[in-house]
Amino acid sequence: MTKICCLGAGYVGGPTCAVIAYKCPDVQVTIVDLNAERIAAWNSDELPIFEPGLDEVVKACRGRNLFFSADVDKGILEADLIFVSVNTPTKKSGVGAGFAADLAYVESATRRIARVATTPKIVIEKSTVPCRTAESMRAILEANSRQNIRFDILSNPEFLAEGTAIADLMNPDRVLIGSLQTPEGFAAQKALADVYAHWVPREKIITMGLWSSELSKLAANALLAQRISSVNALSAICEATGADVDEVAYACGLDSRIGPKFLKASVGFGGSCFQKDILNLVYLSESLHLPEVAEYWKQVVTMNEYQKSRFAELVIRRLFNTITNKHLAVFGFAFKKNTGDTRESPAITLVKHFLQEKAHIHIYDPKVEESQIELDLCNPDVATPEQYKSHVKVYNSPYEAAKDVDAIVVLTEWDEFKTLDYRKVFNSMNKPAFIFDGRLILDTQKLRKIGFQVEVIGRQA
Ligand code: NAD
Ligand code: UGA
Repeated sequence: MTKICCLGAGYVGGPTCAVIAYKCPDVQVTIVDLNAERIAAWNSDELPIFEPGLDEVVKACRGRNLFFSADVDKGILEADLIFVSVNTPTKKSGVGAGFAADLAYVESATRRIARVATTPKIVIEKSTVPCRTAESMRAILEANSRQNIRFDILSNPEFLAEGTAIADLMNPDRVLIGSLQTPEGFAAQKALADVYAHWVPREKIITMGLWSSELSKLAANALLAQRISSVNALSAICEATGADVDEVAYACGLDSRIGPKFLKASVGFGGSCFQKDILNLVYLSESLHLPEVAEYWKQVVTMNEYQKSRFAELVIRRLFNTITNKHLAVFGFAFKKNTGDTRESPAITLVKHFLQEKAHIHIYDPKVEESQIELDLCNPDVATPEQYKSHVKVYNSPYEAAKDVDAIVVLTEWDEFKTLDYRKVFNSMNKPAFIFDGRLILDTQKLRKIGFQVEVIGRQA
């Protein structure tokens, strides 16, 4: 029986390896993590992350061929294939601070594999890493391995999106495996491809060299984020000219060379990866002495920041140039619908702007826990604990959140926001009642008929 171990039971390691276990009953999968609390949650009825369909997958194979454990060494010892799926956040200090990926977790995971392993291992980079990280991993493994144990390194970047992770994993557009172009590299590549081939058609499992594979992951995220910044840049032109960004995106998306996906204007993209991976690419370009290339990609992030502040300024301007002591309901705190993840959520930046203007904020999100909101906002970059206590309140219902507020600001595209009883909401609000749609999901005509003052990204009032 093939044995797989995954280091890192996060948003990627958890769902990815759970789906492998689900689809490969003949493979034993153990997901390990340094965070014992997270492992306990994976072993409980309340999984540590919310992802549609994840519960069913985990429940179907947990205890059968899927195990969650805090015993990292045992996991490493027993495995033939080891996924490294640890976090690679943007560096906060030192060389490359604010741009480069912090590879400390990848390095310590790699050192641990070298220290513990007693049999040959295929080590798989699942984390998103800068180009040529596999080279450093190889050096660490070879220098630290016990009895000259053989390690083969593969790059197998993950392309799932949160909120649709299980569907993406069950039916991926492609599985990418990079390896050294040597007989041993090809053999390792085949061993991993055989696992995916349990459910992914062979023609969708693509193979290439390590560096292309590593770079393809950064490139894919950069291209996706670039589309959003492009459509958001167009949204500003629409607001100034009377064009409608949804119509423009529709017209452009019908061109089969452009395609309709990922052209939804918004308050800005969030999530743990787009910004991090672009900044990583910017840093890589700078280190390669390609300043023009670095500047080009940096603009995608700059445009995203501009979009968020532009929206905050719109709210303030329309509320008669002041929101001091006004009450605003924030609908949605997650960075996108169908996830409870708030990493780099635009809502954090928007609430920061509102708190700087001394507004009172009522937050409602169907999936984000109050403790998470507090953690995100009581952060030296955003607000003090005193500001949070006096100016932020989290609600369990959108109706409660909207009571006695001057404006509603929609920041996440949760489906339930489309079908609320907006007449009831309107009646409970201060007048004039404003609603700002940062996701273009609401029926503006209907809202205007009720009496709302409506403002939408990418469209004139
Ligand atoms: P995460 O923070 O949710 O999970 C990472 C986990 O790794 C944490 O639980 C942490 O405790 C654990 N960990 C750290 N060092 C460890 C070690 N030495 N041994 C064992 N466990 C260790 O992060 P994530 O969102 O799952 O992302 C992981 C990687 O995947 C990142 O590189 C990210 O860029 C990439 N990625 C993320 C997504 C996504 O949608 N979140 C999608 C594709 C790729
Ligand atoms: C993204 C990529 O889509 C995945 O392929 C990739 O694996 C992942 O990053 C990663 O490397 O972490 P994710 O961030 O989970 O996935 O979610 P997306 O659906 O890409 O959304 C990212 C942000 O862009 C969200 O805030 C979303 O609301 C926003 N967005 C998305 C728009 O504003 N407009 C769009 O048209 C699409």
